[in-house]
Amino acid sequence: MLDYVFKTHTPKETSDFGRMVAPYLFPQTVITLSGDLGAGKTTFAGGLAHGLGIHEKVISPTFNIMRCYFNAKLPLFHIDAYRLESGNKDLGLEEFIEGNGVTLIEWPQYIQEIIPSDALNIVISNLGDDLREVHISTSNPAFTKMFAKIREEFVW
Ligand SMILES: Nc1ncnc2c1ncn2[C@@H]1O[C@H](COP(=O)(O)OP(=O)(O)OP(=O)(O)O)[C@@H](O)[C@H]1O
Ligand SMILES: [Mg+2]
Repeated sequence: MLDYVFKTHTPKETSDFGRMVAPYLFPQTVITLSGDLGAGKTTFAGGLAHGLGIHEKVISPTFNIMRCYFNAKLPLFHIDAYRLESGNKDLGLEEFIEGNGVTLIEWPQYIQEIIPSDALNIVISNLGDDLREVHISTSNPAFTKMFAKIREEFVW
């Protein structure tokens, strides 16, 4: 199990964290993004998209469930499952998760059944003002180098 907790002090740091992670991703990576409303999930997603070479602005896909970005080093599927809490979950999202891109999932608890067990899990907590705690963990050893880099760049 890879597991690390650190702090960010500005939105830019959270976005920079996303950008830093991007080069370590590969096809079929699933990243879950958990945290309260306004924690910084989409801010992270914006940095990650930038790192994948996406220049469009990343907005929360809440009203569309999913936004896809193909003009990138790897296709990015950005899912916001918030509105699936009590709704129809049979949308075929597995096809994206099992496809050849990176899938980012905000509010993963609402579609838990389709999240692979070796996903990269990120939990962001608001510690007040601009301070955020970021907890990243995964059972997938393919991310070992990425964790070494994060430990180097981001500290508690
Ligand atoms: N350290 C920080 N990291 C990330 N965002 C921060 C930080 N400090 C302040 N913020 C602010 O918190 C807000 C985070 O919004 P964002 O849309 O990224 O959250 P979210 O988790 O995606 O929310 P939602 O669940 O509503 O989609 C932004 O307004 C951002 O400027
Ligand atoms: Mg969001």
